Amino acid sequence: MYVCVCKGVTEKALRDAIHEGADRMRDLKTRLGVSEQCGICACYAKQILDQTLAQKSEAQGYHEQATCLCETAA
Ligand code: FES
Repeated sequence: MYVCVCKGVTEKALRDAIHEGADRMRDLKTRLGVSEQCGICACYAKQILDQTLAQKSEAQGYHEQATCLCETAA
């Protein structure tokens, strides 16, 4: 699904960029051009940014916890 029609940026492209390290709207704007023209996409792009960062954080916590369990089992 397209998030930014002006620049042809999809939701997947946004999530990929966030997983590759973009953690601010400024990063998404620089990398993909999101909200560079009309700006209508900015609100939805921010929602995707926040949601994906929360998922990354949650997954990272899970992996840290799993690492701890592995270390105690060894
Ligand atoms: S829809 Fe993204 S700048 Fe216009």
